[in-house]
Amino acid sequence: AHTERDLLYKIHEVANNYFQETLWDSEEGKSIGLSYFKERELKDDIIKKFQLGYSPEQKNAFTAYALEKGYDKEILEKSGLSIFPENTPSGVDRFRERVIFPIHSFSGRVLGFGARILKNNVKTAKYLNSPETEIYHKSNVLYGLNQSKQAISRKNVCLLVEGYMDVISLHMSGIENVVASSGTSLTTEQIKLIKRLTENVTILFDGDNAGIKASFRSIDMLLTEGMNIRVLLFPDGDDPDSFARKHPQEYVEKFIENQAMDFIDFKAEILLKEVGNDPIKKAEAIRDIVKSVSFVQNALKREVYLKEVSNKFGLSEQSLFNELDVQKQITQ
Ligand code: CTP
Ligand code: MN
Ligand code: MN
Ligand code: MN
Ligand code: MN
Repeated sequence: AHTERDLLYKIHEVANNYFQETLWDSEEGKSIGLSYFKERELKDDIIKKFQLGYSPEQKNAFTAYALEKGYDKEILEKSGLSIFPENTPSGVDRFRERVIFPIHSFSGRVLGFGARILKNNVKTAKYLNSPETEIYHKSNVLYGLNQSKQAISRKNVCLLVEGYMDVISLHMSGIENVVASSGTSLTTEQIKLIKRLTENVTILFDGDNAGIKASFRSIDMLLTEGMNIRVLLFPDGDDPDSFARKHPQEYVEKFIENQAMDFIDFKAEILLKEVGNDPIKKAEAIRDIVKSVSFVQNALKREVYLKEVSNKFGLSEQSLFNELDVQKQITQ
């Protein structure tokens, strides 16, 4: 007998095939979906590698297809792919007139979808994602992990980006050790997935305020899990996707290699920018950095990082250790 989970996996596989067939074989898919991907300079082989698709405009196109195949309303509703409002027995598709990004598990099963509108529009969310279901827990999944896991192991470093297109563009540039947190703050579960492959993470977030904020939060989470971190923000207005399309592969690789900073230098650069000559503000910035160090679980590593802070700011190690003790009491 099939369990409900089995059925949910199955319906996602059916939907994934349906969205891909619609992209490649229907007139609407080709003229709208495929042209969208072409405008973003994606090659056919990369579209296929990430199993990208298209959901048509018709309001119950997928639902009708799945009902016809024998899936019942209850399972369609539980999958998050269909909604059945009171007065609409034919159902409504969650994803309509959007390009589709399937989200895979570590082992490659489709768990859910992200779906992008075709034209940016202030009224509609740019991305619509599957809701939490029995098989999809947003906080336990990293986009691109299935396609990137071998390269992450081989290179012994995981690049962490914000978005779907960042992962895909970097792959197209031959940089295949990359996953996305999908715009949410990184979770312990997600870090544990990376840790199966490597302890080294390079954060490559968008060079805007949201990206800086997210990188600060992610640094503390990653340090808590014992990861080694480097950080690189792209020039303002760029994200890894737009940057990778502007520059040749070798340049992008060198840029990441040379510009990524250790987390102490990164936080110092950002925080000291706002400080000027104000000694109180400078002290606050240093406390903020020491707070991050307080998340490091390993005592020896903590000491090495503190020495670095001490050298960088010309402060005694003793006063930094005192501050660290204070911070540890606050954070633990
Ligand atoms: N995101 C989301 N819902 C939104 C906006 C963003 O789920 N309304 C997630 C998506 O996973 C997205 C990521 O956050 O890929 C990063 O957001 P953002 O930088 O705004 O989008 P991009 O990935 O750069 O999108 P694009 O290049 O397609 O415009
Ligand atoms: Mn579960
Ligand atoms: Mn962003
Ligand atoms: Mn972005
Ligand atoms: Mn982008």
